[in-house]
Amino acid sequence: MSASHSYIMPTYSPQPISFTRGEGSWLFTADNTPYLDALTGIAVCGLGHCHPEITKAIQEQAATLVHTSNLFEIEWQQKAAEALCQAAGMDSVFFANSGAEANEAALKMARLYGYKKGFKKPKVIVMEKSFHGRTLLTVTATANPKAREGFYTLDSDFIRVPFGDIEALKQVTQDEDEITAVLLEPIQGEGGLNTAKDGFEYLEQVQALCDQQDWLFMLDEVQTGNGRTGKYFAYQHSNAKPDVLSTAKGLGNGFPIGACMVRGRARDLFQVGSHGSTYGGTPLGSRVVYTVYDILSNTDVMQNATTEGDYIQQSLSEALKDFGVTTRGHGMMIGVVLPESTDCSDLVDRAREDEKLIINVTGGHVIRLLPPLNLKREESDQLIERLIRLIKSTLS
Ligand SMILES: Cc1ncc(COP(=O)(O)O)c(C=O)c1O
Repeated sequence: MSASHSYIMPTYSPQPISFTRGEGSWLFTADNTPYLDALTGIAVCGLGHCHPEITKAIQEQAATLVHTSNLFEIEWQQKAAEALCQAAGMDSVFFANSGAEANEAALKMARLYGYKKGFKKPKVIVMEKSFHGRTLLTVTATANPKAREGFYTLDSDFIRVPFGDIEALKQVTQDEDEITAVLLEPIQGEGGLNTAKDGFEYLEQVQALCDQQDWLFMLDEVQTGNGRTGKYFAYQHSNAKPDVLSTAKGLGNGFPIGACMVRGRARDLFQVGSHGSTYGGTPLGSRVVYTVYDILSNTDVMQNATTEGDYIQQSLSEALKDFGVTTRGHGMMIGVVLPESTDCSDLVDRAREDEKLIINVTGGHVIRLLPPLNLKREESDQLIERLIRLIKSTLS
């Protein structure tokens, strides 16, 4: 078969490399060349590639029972749901198959919340530079105009405000009515690894306003969840608590699954027939979720994400301060901010070709690092060393 992608719709332009094996923090090509993976399939393989316990769970469950549908009780789904809700401090969960689907469920709930209040046109507040997925509702909630162009998005159902600016959010209460919810990412991943200027306290400010206005406080933790920032969910760095919480990516460590959790005001919105998914929460997917939960809860992997993440940020800031480079983020969700004028167009290719390092660039000039949460110290040192060489050669 030809290596060209002629049978695949050109929605992506993949890098000219293919990996045939993964182990921990490393990806390997067919000739066994190792690449240090600081992207983990876009924040998915948080426990590293082919974690032995997850592989074992998949193998055992695949040989036992893969799928029955939600027309029957699924023991692993109940176990995974209880574990996840306890980790998140939420009441119940709907299992979907991706981040977009988890957010779609959240946004449908926001509309139901308005319907129950008798609203004619319920609206959801979302943020500038947000990313929530590619279904019609979630792409409308997404900020990037390129992702929305041509799709007749449902723009009048959303209000967009700057991320991190509580005064802008308060202003909306003066200007608009029939608002049902606010949806935001605790740290914006795709939009430039943006942290709020008040840090996680911003989430508390948003929740206070939501409580005052009787809006649903909805967090998209598709990227920030499952230990990525050093806590199970990023909002747990604060005293805030969402009504609706979506997650995916690290939830299955590579197995495609998403979850939308609810509590409080949002708890009873979905009833029999409100929503569904043929594949949501299969025995196989649920067992993987439970295994990921078990590892995150019973090992020091989240502590390691904090320790190594801080170490990486400090080492890079120190080594690159004379080059106008800064860092931001938490745990293993790190943005290395290069001067705005830096030409980053070939940075990802040079990292891969010259340094055997897999990275991503977001927001034009921010290197996004999403390494495994269990990165070892010697791997952190290799990551730092390779990045410093790459950045210095770019900026000098
Ligand atoms: C914050 C956030 N929400 C939603 C999504 C969409 O997830 P998926 O690609 O699994 O649909 C992403 C994916 O990058 C994301 O980062």
